[in-house]
Amino acid sequence: MMGRSVARACRRIGVAAALCIMTAGAVLAAADAGSPTARLPGYGPRTFGDRPSVAQMTAIGERLFVEQALSASGRVSCASCHSPQHAFAAPNARPAQPGGARLASAGRRNPPSLMYLQTTLPFTEHYIDDEDGHGIDAGPTGGFTWDGRVNTLHEQSLIPLFAPHEMANRDARQLARQLQRSPVAADFRRAFSEADKDVFDQPEEVVRWVGAALEVYQQDPATFYPYTSKFDAVMRGQAQFDAAQARGLVLFNDPNKGNCAACHPSGRRSDGGLPAFTDSGYGALGVPRNALLLANRNPRYFDMGLCGPERTDLTDKREYCGFFKVPSLRNVAQHRVFFHNGRFTSLRQVLDFYATRDTDPGRWYPRDAHGRVTRYDDLPPDLRANVNAEVPFEPLPQGKRRLNEAEIDDLLAFLRTLNDGFAVKRTQTGQHSGSCTDQCR
Ligand code: HEC
Ligand code: HEC
Repeated sequence: MMGRSVARACRRIGVAAALCIMTAGAVLAAADAGSPTARLPGYGPRTFGDRPSVAQMTAIGERLFVEQALSASGRVSCASCHSPQHAFAAPNARPAQPGGARLASAGRRNPPSLMYLQTTLPFTEHYIDDEDGHGIDAGPTGGFTWDGRVNTLHEQSLIPLFAPHEMANRDARQLARQLQRSPVAADFRRAFSEADKDVFDQPEEVVRWVGAALEVYQQDPATFYPYTSKFDAVMRGQAQFDAAQARGLVLFNDPNKGNCAACHPSGRRSDGGLPAFTDSGYGALGVPRNALLLANRNPRYFDMGLCGPERTDLTDKREYCGFFKVPSLRNVAQHRVFFHNGRFTSLRQVLDFYATRDTDPGRWYPRDAHGRVTRYDDLPPDLRANVNAEVPFEPLPQGKRRLNEAEIDDLLAFLRTLNDGFAVKRTQTGQHSGSCTDQCR
């Protein structure tokens, strides 16, 4: 509870969030000592005089993020899976990225974007927001990864650093040794060593500082939450949507058409903040099974999100099986691959799926031996009832779809306004006029 109120207070103060979140993290790491992922007892890097400053940590974090020496193979960095050219999501259309000590292991999930995560609250099974949610229990909310199993960015970084199928370090000593031989070593030592000591003599400390530097870097507003999209310019009264974009927003919000805003809110938050296009909740969309994922060659393997197998503390909550985190839609048009299992490789496919999953299921799911379509085939049969059946999935009377092709075009036009990189210019008359880099339109 205390962790959440710290994070909420932090959310309000915006830019100074980096250190604020770290404080919240320290509180949580202590409170959550029993959680399966709390592997940093007593987390809370110290300071040495005026070292390290936020600027120093951001700069080192940025270098660590692209540093392949952080992996056992020497060939994988955070950026290998979270590409800065693709809004820190996957660099290519593969459903998962390779990793492991010899780069021979296949991932099981699509790397999510790392942008606009700064308001992420710690995971809770029962989220009650008095301001925006009128005191109603919104269910599982918050946390990092597709299943919310970690609460802070420094804990999160431990997963890839030590996962055998990702960066595959055996232990802190291996990581420290490799880092010590990398070009970042000198600056790392200078920033994070106690007077007359060498941080590299304490591998556990090295891991803590790696996590802290990556965390502070990922909280850097200019890189991770710049709010420079056309959508933001419109919200600030500095630009106007064209006709297709405006129609797209109406469809996005309309509870009988896209109903997207029900899970990806598009309005200002009650504290005045611009929206992240996620309510930080969880949902089961019945995304089709992805045969390209190696793990799925085993017909008995099911990635069920909140109820496991990656997450292990909610396995008895069968009502959560199939639930994955609602991602932010900011910069989503820059992604190459979509959904937790990377099943789709274009945004249009995603929208076609929302529009026709339940009106034309044969388009998305395989047929069984009797020729019947196996809906929601990425869940065991007895759990398929968990899949969300509300609008936009719910067919209109006579089984008609809610969104036609022209409306999908409009939704796509609107979603592209969520790309950062729209430059607002002031004309001589004092009016605003916008222009776009190739990224944003
Ligand atoms: C081999 C690919 C790979 C590498 C390398 C990798 N990640 Fe990830 N990352 C993923 C995948 C896949 C997920 C989703 C994991 C899940 O849901 O279990 C993820 C999730 C995350 C998340 C959670 C995002 C969210 O929306 O909750 C963060 C933060 C993150 N990674 C940061 C990092 C950092 C920092 C590094 C470097 C230390 C890194 N990642 C290295 C693949 C990778
Ligand atoms: C019931 C809640 C809900 C509604 C309504 C909803 N979404 Fe989603 N959305 C989700 C969840 C949950 C995911 C992640 C699902 C997964 O990966 O299994 C998601 C994922 C996405 C993604 C993929 C993003 C990525 O990074 O992979 C896009 C794009 C998207 N939604 C757009 C929309 C649009 C457009 C609409 C309206 C037509 C919409 N959503 C309606 C909950 C919802």
